[in-house]
Amino acid sequence: MAKPTILLHIDCDAQASSFDAIVALDVGVQQLITRSNVQPSQIQSLIHGTIFTRGPADLKNTAVFIGGSEVAESDTLFAAAQKCFFGPMRVSIMSDPNGCNTTAAAAVLACQRHINLDNRRVVILGGTGPVGQRIAQIITALNLNTEVVIGSRRIERAQAVIKRVVNHLGKSDSNFTSDLQPQLTPAALISPSEALAVASNADVIFSAGAAGVEFLDERWPETQASVLIDLNAVPPAGIAGIDATTAGTEINGKICYGAIGVGELKMRIHKQAIRRLFESNDQVLDTQAIYQIGASLQADKQC
Ligand SMILES: NC(=O)c1ccc[n+]([C@@H]2O[C@H](COP(=O)([O-])OP(=O)(O)OC[C@H]3O[C@@H](n4cnc5c(N)ncnc54)[C@H](OP(=O)(O)O)[C@@H]3O)[C@@H](O)[C@H]2O)c1
Repeated sequence: MAKPTILLHIDCDAQASSFDAIVALDVGVQQLITRSNVQPSQIQSLIHGTIFTRGPADLKNTAVFIGGSEVAESDTLFAAAQKCFFGPMRVSIMSDPNGCNTTAAAAVLACQRHINLDNRRVVILGGTGPVGQRIAQIITALNLNTEVVIGSRRIERAQAVIKRVVNHLGKSDSNFTSDLQPQLTPAALISPSEALAVASNADVIFSAGAAGVEFLDERWPETQASVLIDLNAVPPAGIAGIDATTAGTEINGKICYGAIGVGELKMRIHKQAIRRLFESNDQVLDTQAIYQIGASLQADKQC
């Protein structure tokens, strides 16, 4: 008889995400084991518990999800967990700290429904947060010669994100070489007028700043952008007048999405990724893999 599906839900926060737990149960995970406040030193025993309890044929019914609101800490746990696997002694694993991978994947895919990113200029307002960084990483990894501008109140923060994205892709993506690297550019912007100036000649604008912060005021129709995506669901909107529920609607001649408009695809990606974990015991669902899952979902829907 097949063993029940078990998801070990590891979270670096004192209180593990109820959102991530509910999604797992909604997808049909039979047993959810949640561990909060997990430190890197505790990872080995947790992962050994998953790989040494079932025979190799049953390991695909055990999987690990790593979340938490501190993305750097969660990434450290994700890397540490993978180091515990060897040979067939492994289980599938997914990383989605604070939903940044699933949200960024959905945002990029929503945009790609309307515009080909080849040789375009993309501006990410509030681009230094987890979601903005992952959007930059996904687009950079596509190697489409897209210029990606990372906006921040402090230029050094944007420069640090660029360094992190390039380092990360250099290590994790064998197809990534610096000569294929699209232009990643930092931009300092504090006021809506500065944001408008930086975004004025963008083809695509992502507003990925903190909840409740307006980045572009009502002058945004002056930009040449054909797609604008605001990921902030908390009023006021990140882009004035783009309601959170907007989903691919044309406003002032431009395609617009709000956070809930992108959220539908984000939820489908998250659920499909959890299902994928139980297809085999060797899945590693990082930013790029999660984007690929979303791309397949989107391609299926378009067929
Ligand atoms: N739709 C969904 O399913 C979904 C899921 C997850 C998140 N979200 C939303 O996506 C957005 C991005 O999430 P995140 O976690 O990456 O955001 P975050 O880390 O909270 O903020 C992103 C960036 O915003 C800038 N920022 C913070 N406070 C600011 C202020 N008062 N004025 C101007 N800039 C400010 C900061 O950049 P600098 O300090 O470098 O300027 C920060 O790095 C949020 O609005 C979040 O609520 C949506």
